[in-house]
Amino acid sequence: MEKPFIFINSAISLDGKLSTRERKQVKISNKEDLERVDSLRAGADAVMVGSNTVAIDDPKLTVKSEALRNQRKAKGMPENPAKVMVGSIKNIRVDGDFLNYGNAEKIIFTTEKEDIKKIEELRKKAKVYVLGKQKTNVKEMIEILSGLGMKRIMVEGGGTLNYEMLEAGLVDEIYVAIGPMIFGGKDAPTLADGEGLLYEKKINLEPIGTETLGDVYVLKYKVLR
Ligand SMILES: NC(=O)c1ccc[n+]([C@@H]2O[C@H](COP(=O)([O-])OP(=O)(O)OC[C@H]3O[C@@H](n4cnc5c(N)ncnc54)[C@H](OP(=O)(O)O)[C@@H]3O)[C@@H](O)[C@H]2O)c1
Repeated sequence: MEKPFIFINSAISLDGKLSTRERKQVKISNKEDLERVDSLRAGADAVMVGSNTVAIDDPKLTVKSEALRNQRKAKGMPENPAKVMVGSIKNIRVDGDFLNYGNAEKIIFTTEKEDIKKIEELRKKAKVYVLGKQKTNVKEMIEILSGLGMKRIMVEGGGTLNYEMLEAGLVDEIYVAIGPMIFGGKDAPTLADGEGLLYEKKINLEPIGTETLGDVYVLKYKVLR
């Protein structure tokens, strides 16, 4: 089976942070950039986030532009990409936006350590895959998504999930929108957190483009393998 095309899109401060040390959802980019993000979503079969992002931000992850949603429908695609979450289901709000906002398929990848009652409750709203004892094997997860027909997958953070996907060699391209601000803080989430790589194992990138959207610079990279 062919691997789906997988890209990360994140907004960061100049110092590479996804948020401040409070780890709340914050505004980093601008209106033009959010329109760019909306187009990326509109071109994706699935939009993926980590469980902390769902717990903290409770993102809607839908396509905001009605015109773009209509274009998808005209192509025979679902109105919105599938929303995919990876990780613990403990803090997912059953009545929150991730699970309820907009007309979108919901898919959750979680592990055997989770409460079976909550899994059953979530199964009323989402497809739930229980993969792995403590951690989901992200390669297996992508094979499942590929089997469901997902050819283009957008990863929207946070830093832990971005790192997991990069470290597993699954990411093809990365787009970062750099907002004109600095957050600092060793505990603030960054574009790629997790365990980190040694220099010999670093992920090398090739720049493939830039865009200036008002006060935001968008940098685009291909991941080299
Ligand atoms: N600026 C942006 O573009 C942007 C975008 C998204 C998020 N954010 C910010 O990023 C922060 C959250 O980032 P984060 O790094 O803390 O969290 P995250 O990446 O959203 O979620 C991390 C969690 O996902 C689960 N996970 C990831 N890979 C997994 C795997 N292979 N198997 C099982 N579970 C896996 C783990 O959950 P468990 O340990 O619970 O099992 C892990 O703790 C928030 O401040 C949010 O606002 C910013």
